[in-house]
Amino acid sequence: MPTDDQSKTLFSAKYNQHYHSIKGAMTESKYVFIESGLHWVRQILMDHKKDGTVIEQINCLEVGFGTGLNALLSMLDQGITNTLSIHYTAIEPSPVSQSIWEQLNYPNLELFSRLHQSPWGQSVSILPTFTLYKVERVLSDFLERESATTDPIHLIYFDAFSPEALPELWSESIFAQLYSLMAPGGILVTYCAKGVVKTALRSAGFQVQRLPGPPGKHHMLRAVKAS
Ligand SMILES: C[S@@+](CC[C@H](N)C(=O)[O-])C[C@H]1O[C@@H](n2cnc3c(N)ncnc32)[C@H](O)[C@@H]1O
Repeated sequence: MPTDDQSKTLFSAKYNQHYHSIKGAMTESKYVFIESGLHWVRQILMDHKKDGTVIEQINCLEVGFGTGLNALLSMLDQGITNTLSIHYTAIEPSPVSQSIWEQLNYPNLELFSRLHQSPWGQSVSILPTFTLYKVERVLSDFLERESATTDPIHLIYFDAFSPEALPELWSESIFAQLYSLMAPGGILVTYCAKGVVKTALRSAGFQVQRLPGPPGKHHMLRAVKAS
């Protein structure tokens, strides 16, 4: 269905929820994940580069690949600035079928198709500065099986269905496991600013910042692992 900015989103009958804000799917994704997440981390890592610390790659983890919109916007943003490469790990237990993603009206159909058609369980270079690793598992399985081989994460897009729908995903235990996988100074961004989420993030060790939200939402959260 089209949202208020005309970009489409999907509805999950299982969770009785849309994949994005109906006030604007693309607007929400750009604001919460790209502008408040990717741009922030890129600036910090670029500053480190100036200090002489060599970091060539942003390791990004997305919880809930879904339509692929966050991955697409990250890749397109990368194309413009092209300073640090991105290794993008996307977790998704229920991939969206081709007959559905083909109906989404997101930009750059060629790159969008490549995101969806790239195989699961393999790192694939989609652009010279963007590598995608899609994992067809629930987050807890990924953490159990792949934590030991995951490089330190600089940026987490936490884009799961809401805490009411999936309380176990927004728990202190999950956030603590993610925290332990992150590089010092790494951040987690999410559209959800509920009190229970802030409390769970703080209990897991994060410093939590409440930021103004995208249209239709008062706030969003950025959680920082202290350097
Ligand atoms: C809010 S939607 C995703 C939005 C997505 N980032 C996008 O741009 O389309 C939440 C996604 O989380 C996925 N999901 C559900 N349970 C999950 C779990 N236990 N671990 C990881 N992802 C899960 C859903 O299948 C769905 O695609």
